[in-house]
Amino acid sequence: MARRKLIAGNWKMNGSLAALAELDTIATAAAAAPNVDVAIAVPATLIAPAHARVPSLAIGAEDVHEADSGAHTGCVSASMVREAGAAFTIVGHSERRGDQHETSHDAYMKSAAAHRQGLTVILCVGETQAERDAGRAERVVQAQIEKSLPDDAHADWLTLAYEPRWAIGTGWTPSMEDIAAMHAIARAKLRQMIGDTALDMRILYGGSLTGANAAEILALENVDGALVGGASLTADKFVPIIEAAKAQST
Ligand code: PGA
Repeated sequence: MARRKLIAGNWKMNGSLAALAELDTIATAAAAAPNVDVAIAVPATLIAPAHARVPSLAIGAEDVHEADSGAHTGCVSASMVREAGAAFTIVGHSERRGDQHETSHDAYMKSAAAHRQGLTVILCVGETQAERDAGRAERVVQAQIEKSLPDDAHADWLTLAYEPRWAIGTGWTPSMEDIAAMHAIARAKLRQMIGDTALDMRILYGGSLTGANAAEILALENVDGALVGGASLTADKFVPIIEAAKAQST
């Protein structure tokens, strides 16, 4: 089965009600690219207004708690973001792993919680610069997949995102060979864990992906789309990425 490309934005702790105007143009570009899936994760406070403004666009959360409810001050559950209009959530983003010291086990629990509530999941993995320099990138990514992929993971509701931490927000990207190699390793690991259904699972690349490098990266084998931070904040930067995916999907 051919894997449809998914272009997912991640606004991180950026945006405002006024910034939601960017979504109008993004939704128009998404509608003009019927062979591409387009999604945007926004801060929790913007999920409901974003969904109300552009119901045709898949709006998501950037994180959820592993519990469905309870005494967890400041946290937001999968059922809450779902009620606000989220269709998906990012889980295990490297900024959560770094800033909040989240582990792969946390990502595993959160993925399961999101699935219980009917959200689809973008599960992130990726090595640090130090791990890459030490020649451990492959092993780190394999171990992250091993520990964070839910037992019943399926392409219907889970997408993996490979995001080398040192490429996020830095303007640096790995070489095309390195991206292709890591995606092949991720595919093999998924296959070992969930069998041939892994062939249907999308693997996104993330880290300084822009309109300038999207076509080259999206053309690589086993790169089934992108998770985009900085270049997802405005339509003028994000739409060219949607169009690059569209050009490869027709
Ligand atoms: P970036 O972020 O595109 O700004 O590098 C990617 C991400 O963190 O998902």
